Amino acid sequence: MRILVAGATGAIGRQLVPALIRAGHSVIGTTRTPAKAELIGQMGVEPVIVDGLDAQAVRAAVIAKQPEVIVHQMTDLANVTDLRHFDRAFAVTNRLRTVGTDCLLAAAREAGVRRFVAQSFCGWTYGRSGAPVKTEADPLDPDPPQELRRTLEAIQHLERAVTGSEQPEGIVLRYGSFYGPDSGILSRAMIDQLRRRRVPMIGDGGGWWSFIHVADAASATVAAIERGRAGNIYNIVDDEPAEVSEWLPALAAIVGAKPPFHVPTWLGRLLAGEHMVAMMTEVRAGSNVKARRELGWQPAHPSWRAGCAEIVGHSGGHSAAA
Ligand SMILES: NC(=O)c1ccc[n+]([C@@H]2O[C@H](COP(=O)([O-])OP(=O)(O)OC[C@H]3O[C@@H](n4cnc5c(N)ncnc54)[C@H](OP(=O)(O)O)[C@@H]3O)[C@@H](O)[C@H]2O)c1
Repeated sequence: MRILVAGATGAIGRQLVPALIRAGHSVIGTTRTPAKAELIGQMGVEPVIVDGLDAQAVRAAVIAKQPEVIVHQMTDLANVTDLRHFDRAFAVTNRLRTVGTDCLLAAAREAGVRRFVAQSFCGWTYGRSGAPVKTEADPLDPDPPQELRRTLEAIQHLERAVTGSEQPEGIVLRYGSFYGPDSGILSRAMIDQLRRRRVPMIGDGGGWWSFIHVADAASATVAAIERGRAGNIYNIVDDEPAEVSEWLPALAAIVGAKPPFHVPTWLGRLLAGEHMVAMMTEVRAGSNVKARRELGWQPAHPSWRAGCAEIVGHSGGHSAAA
């Protein structure tokens, strides 16, 4: 298939592009900068320079390239550090999820694109009551903490627009929290914070999280492009949902940090905000049963614990902190 990856240079795009080429697809990849276009070209991909928030440029690119499938992987999270002001940190990403999705879908419709696959998130977005591990049929949080509202609204906008589209047919992938070499919870910034003991465990650490190795997120995306059911949402997560009280100390140990400090919820609220307290004590994880069954996919890294240890082991435990 002829597939346009919007956001080919990000954490997922860099894994997805080679996976698509290995699966025999021809790939067009977007970036905003000429320097990265050269890198995309070196991967054997046709580069396009386009800003995802520029409707005319997006329309022109899609019509010129005539892909059969578009994969929306545009986020703007590379320089996010201040999660205390969560909605502010996610502001451009949220525009890419709303305005960016609408522009790309409109262009896809006009160009006769057959299928549209978009990135969403699996984790704190789910309702914070009931079972600790949620399926795609479970409701999203009806009353999120104030600081997460705009981000959840943007995610819901993207999910509604994509799953509600008939031409192109749409599929949404809710990826768990990423990890990979210098990525997600193994990014330099996160490892640095863990080693400085600046990621405290708040309250009982009873919030549940789901993780996914970026290579597994890519293989699931290839499977969704080839076999996903139109109009559906899939949780793309590993087999080991875990409470913060379990994964945070384990991750600290994996990166060679001392165990995290414990702080009571009242102090966590003061230091990090209500939303971070919720993320550490109340949020829910996701189940991958539907993705396994319908996509014929399984994670090559079923456990974040083993996957993170393998990555840190390969880097000698040092590279991410360099
Ligand atoms: N589920 C998760 O846990 C999750 C999801 C996403 C990201 N993350 C984490 O966040 C960190 C940063 O993510 P990332 O490496 O993917 O970088 P990123 O800065 O989020 O960029 C992702 C992609 O979006 C493109 N992009 C950004 N703004 C754009 C715009 N206005 N128009 C068009 N394209 C645009 C980028 O292209 P150019 O920069 O080449 O223009 C890049 O290809 C990583 O550690 C990653 O693991 C986690």
